[in-house]
Amino acid sequence: MKKIGIMTTGGDCSGLNTVIQRVVRGANLRGWQVWGILDGTDGLSVTPPAVIQLNDMLLPIENARLAGSFLHNGRVHALNFETAAETGKLKSFNKKLRQSLKMLNFDALILIGGNGSLSLAWANRDIYSDLQLICIPKTIDMDMPLTARTIGFDTAVQQLTSYCDQLMLTARSHHRWFVVQAMGRDCGMLALYAGVAAGAAAILIPEIKFDVDSLIKHIKKSTTDYGIIIVAEGISLRGHSGRPADMIARKLTAAGIVNRTAFPEHTQRAGDTVASDRILATRFADCALDAIENNETYVMTALECGDVHTVALSDFVAAGDCEHDPKVPELLTSNAYVAHDEPLLQVAYDMGVYIGERK
Ligand code: F6P
Repeated sequence: MKKIGIMTTGGDCSGLNTVIQRVVRGANLRGWQVWGILDGTDGLSVTPPAVIQLNDMLLPIENARLAGSFLHNGRVHALNFETAAETGKLKSFNKKLRQSLKMLNFDALILIGGNGSLSLAWANRDIYSDLQLICIPKTIDMDMPLTARTIGFDTAVQQLTSYCDQLMLTARSHHRWFVVQAMGRDCGMLALYAGVAAGAAAILIPEIKFDVDSLIKHIKKSTTDYGIIIVAEGISLRGHSGRPADMIARKLTAAGIVNRTAFPEHTQRAGDTVASDRILATRFADCALDAIENNETYVMTALECGDVHTVALSDFVAAGDCEHDPKVPELLTSNAYVAHDEPLLQVAYDMGVYIGERK
């Protein structure tokens, strides 16, 4: 009988509970125990560690579609790898986590996290040297290399699309435009996908340079006098500060284009998990359990060309664009962005969407 731990770290997204429920189901069928660590690494930094044994009664099947994490993702002010490193407490923090894991005596730990959490797990990998570490990628930002999808992305696209659908109706009634600010950090994937789905007239993302005058011309030439302009939160406009949607809205207003701004914010991380995310969660959970059975460690589940398999965490952290953590320069985070050959960019362009100045 194996004893495995599971935790969710970083920002939440829809689909985490599906992963947890499927891991519990699959593990119990194999005769294994699953223990949920509460609040990510916070649950390991207290004595005794904050854990609960999971079963079908605790996280029933009908709740597996709900957003958020049943195990929580951690408190804002708690010590974590970054704050511990910043304050010179990394050594003692790591020691505490290692001690807790030793006390819990897990054979394996499934860590569901984003690029920051996985990069940090690798940087502090000694903590996990006595067990198998299996990671599952999740984020609405889709900014993780080596996997074509992360848990939560498809639901976020649906949430943002539905939000734009609602705005489109009031936009039409008042002959005006809505400048909608999408989440995604420095990655434009969420803005691009939801923009195409909602039929946005323009999509501005950090990966592609845009020209405000061209955007204005494009909107003025539009066959409608209403619609959606999606602006990724990571864009910037030289000489301007403030929220990106506000910056663009001011320019449009100055050009005589009637508009309003809209900020869906954390609703993009909410909403019932869509079917494709639930299927991905189930496939990743199954792959993670297989990886435990196959004695793998320091791996991440990934979707590539329709196939789900594991990739080495060492490959993950070396892939994509590796950037130094702004707060802890010795830490590297692995990022992915919208590639210039991303097929949806060409589709958007062909459909008359303004997506910036493409060469
Ligand atoms: O990484 C997920 C994300 O939702 C980003 O898209 C966004 O910039 C950020 O987290 C928001 O963070 P917080 O929940 O701390 O406001």
